[in-house]
Amino acid sequence: MAAKSPERFDLARDTIQFVLNGADVTITPTDPTMTVLDYLRLGRRLTGTKEGCAEGDCGACTVLVGRLVGDEVRYEAVNACIRLLASLDRRAVVTVERLREPGGALHPIQRAMVELHASQCGFCTPGIVMSLTALWLNHDAPPAKERIEDALAGNLCRCTGYGPIVDAVARAYAIGAPADDPLRAEGADVARRLKALAGLDALSFVADGRRYAAPTTADDLAAAALNRPDATILAGATDAGLWVTKEMRKLPAIISVGDVAGFDAVENDGGVLSLGAGASLTACRAALGAMHPQIDEMLRRFGSEQIRNMGTIGGSIANGSPIGDLAPVLIALGATLVLRLGGERRAMPIEAFFLAYKKQDRKPGEIVEAILVAKPPAGALLHVSKISKRFDEDISSVLGAFQLVRDRIGVVTEARLAFGGMAATPKRAARAEAALVGRPFEAASAEAAAKAIAQDFSPLDDWRASARYRAEVAANLIRRFHAETQAGATLRVVAPPREAAHA
Ligand SMILES: Cc1cc2nc3c(=O)[nH]c(=O)nc-3n(C[C@H](O)[C@H](O)[C@H](O)COP(=O)(O)OP(=O)(O)OC[C@H]3O[C@@H](n4cnc5c(N)ncnc54)[C@H](O)[C@@H]3O)c2cc1C
Ligand code: FES
Ligand code: FES
Repeated sequence: MAAKSPERFDLARDTIQFVLNGADVTITPTDPTMTVLDYLRLGRRLTGTKEGCAEGDCGACTVLVGRLVGDEVRYEAVNACIRLLASLDRRAVVTVERLREPGGALHPIQRAMVELHASQCGFCTPGIVMSLTALWLNHDAPPAKERIEDALAGNLCRCTGYGPIVDAVARAYAIGAPADDPLRAEGADVARRLKALAGLDALSFVADGRRYAAPTTADDLAAAALNRPDATILAGATDAGLWVTKEMRKLPAIISVGDVAGFDAVENDGGVLSLGAGASLTACRAALGAMHPQIDEMLRRFGSEQIRNMGTIGGSIANGSPIGDLAPVLIALGATLVLRLGGERRAMPIEAFFLAYKKQDRKPGEIVEAILVAKPPAGALLHVSKISKRFDEDISSVLGAFQLVRDRIGVVTEARLAFGGMAATPKRAARAEAALVGRPFEAASAEAAAKAIAQDFSPLDDWRASARYRAEVAANLIRRFHAETQAGATLRVVAPPREAAHA
């Protein structure tokens, strides 16, 4: 086991340093759990960034966070309300105030919003403008309508309606060009400053009697976690941030994974996909989504763009949620979970990690390090369905993820039917799987598997969905899976008319 090295953190840098709207900022922190939103509004009086829900849902607090990708700064939309200020260390932040152009002219996105009357009460508008600015900065040509709608899925507007807001994007590209954006023009300078910040010591401070540490190497992370098993491991804060804003928890010690070199690595050797626990859901969407269009679609509907930019695959597994969307998919894919405790690693089939409601097979001080996903064998059948009340930004009532491996003559040799929302943990349907193995995947065996769901699960009954609804949906997903695999069937990728979804 690696030696404990708490001293190393005590000797590290204790000021948070970042670039805010083009200016260098150094802060001596007073509260390890201060949010970015509170800092901006209360500390800096940058009140253009609004607070709506304080839980990552409404997007009123959207700001851009830039980080180095190679030699360039890549800006992403994030929710300032649940992101901790200390996690801005070594990053560049842009708020709506920065969009004002020299002489006070509006940014093309803002001007287009005004010209198309895309704002009424205006409270949601700064967040919408920031989400669209992220889109603008990352697309030289006007993006497709669906892409615009995805960018807006995490921005709630209840009075204007989304039509003019979506149309404003095309208008902005008629007014100007992202290539001429001042944020692009200053990109090289900001990149240079971020590179300088990247060379600084690890951040570690005590404020208000509470520790925040952001190690920069995997060994230091493992040592810190081992040394402070009581610490909250902080990744994207899309769960942990709400403990602060909604439960008013103080969190006595935080160890952030956000600065650990390589912890977010996504590597594909052609046979096995290796996802570092710190890989964002956006990065995971690109890698896992390439395996199957329904996985891509599920990740497109995971939270919002802001949530996917912040949230990580490690956080979504470590939290042990019975309604998390990724766990059933990874179980169906037969993924392997790699855990690290100090210098020791162990690996397990990912389903073995989930022991009971919110109880995982994770020792004190142990961290989730990586998830390994083998490429499905040739001829395997895959299916993923997320069932939720809303298309966008909603937690699943039921999520079904299935993989059938078949031999050369089509007989099912392995069935993995995993569900979220059906039990206290993400779980496989053992009896339904048994009904499928040893025979071709046909209507009769699919029906037997669908019927077996009633023996596999006694689902929970809550305001999101009744037990009966969940059981029926789960059985129907197996029927749908079979229908999709019939010759001539079209693979379902849910794309309801967005006008209806946004009405
Ligand atoms: C508005 C909103 C929408 C959402 N929508 C969805 C959705 O559609 N589907 C869905 O499944 N979830 C959703 N979530 C939940 C959340 O986004 C996911 O659970 C997310 O993946 C958590 O990852 P994170 O990196 O933000 O974790 P954090 O909040 O940083 O941490 C979550 C937990 O994991 C632990 N942890 C994190 N990383 C590690 C590690 N490497 N090792 C050990 N422990 C670790 C933390 O200590 C904490 O207990 C949503 C959340 C919000 C706020
Ligand atoms: S205030 Fe609603 S998402 Fe942040
Ligand atoms: S203009 Fe967005 S809520 Fe009113």
